[in-house]
Amino acid sequence: MKHLIDAKVLTPEYVGALISSAEDILNNPSKYRESCKGKILATLFYEPSTRTRLSFESAMIGLGGSVLGFSSAEMSSASKGESVADTIRVISCYADIAAIRHHKEGSALAASIYSNIPVINAGDGGHQHPTQTLTDLITIHKFKNKLDGLTIGLCGDLKFGRTVHSLIHAMSKYKNNSFLLVSPDELRIPDYLREEMTAGGVSFTETEDLSSSICDMDILYMTRVQRERFFNEEDYVRLKDSYILNKQKLSLAKADLAVMHPLPRVNEIAAEIDNDPRAVYFEQARLGRYIRMALIMDLLGI
Ligand code: CP
Repeated sequence: MKHLIDAKVLTPEYVGALISSAEDILNNPSKYRESCKGKILATLFYEPSTRTRLSFESAMIGLGGSVLGFSSAEMSSASKGESVADTIRVISCYADIAAIRHHKEGSALAASIYSNIPVINAGDGGHQHPTQTLTDLITIHKFKNKLDGLTIGLCGDLKFGRTVHSLIHAMSKYKNNSFLLVSPDELRIPDYLREEMTAGGVSFTETEDLSSSICDMDILYMTRVQRERFFNEEDYVRLKDSYILNKQKLSLAKADLAVMHPLPRVNEIAAEIDNDPRAVYFEQARLGRYIRMALIMDLLGI
């Protein structure tokens, strides 16, 4: 049985196949309208979500399947103390595939161990978010027509931002990519990730200065400071507006920069740049539905 728990399994070959499949679904939706007829997707969301949960549900419905699930821990028997292991054992009786989001790192992996159906990690704490990475990769492919030879700026909360961790894993597998990691000192990437990048010979530079580094970037991936992962509110308030991408800062960037964001945004991208052709974050969210359709089909063996 196949699961998607960790972005490390996203090889260029696998990603290429999923992007091709997603593009075919996007261009020929009627061809896939009954591909998952009779199949059920369970969305087990112990943490809030708009895009991930609803794009998964929209994806399954678009493939002719059905969906069930819960959107908060309080709405499930987790509130009575049920473990993820027991929950997934039971859900395996009701559904054919499950997407799980949980505040604890490693919970999707734990679910996959006890599951009789494919499990997709839809975000586990501050660890990983591999289907956001697939969304990011199809977006980069669309706007850059390649996934290699790029300078990728990652800006904001690189410590707790799980989408950043997964994207680094995936983009490091392509040739000649380099990373500009822009964050306050307290929100730098975790040590384990820096050590993995160094050991793997991945090119990266860490800086606190967005204005002086934006001119070198092909992609700027902005991220929200993850309030829910902070131990105290004071630190969050002090750091939350460390970077705000506005027209003035964007004027320093390349004409073909792609500005991405996994969303939701808070203040880190000013609304005044939403109509700039370089702002691709809403298209990024749209593409997430199609790459998730491709993933669901692959994991179900369709
Ligand atoms: N990008 C993302 O994970 O958004 P949601 O939290 O709304 O699912």
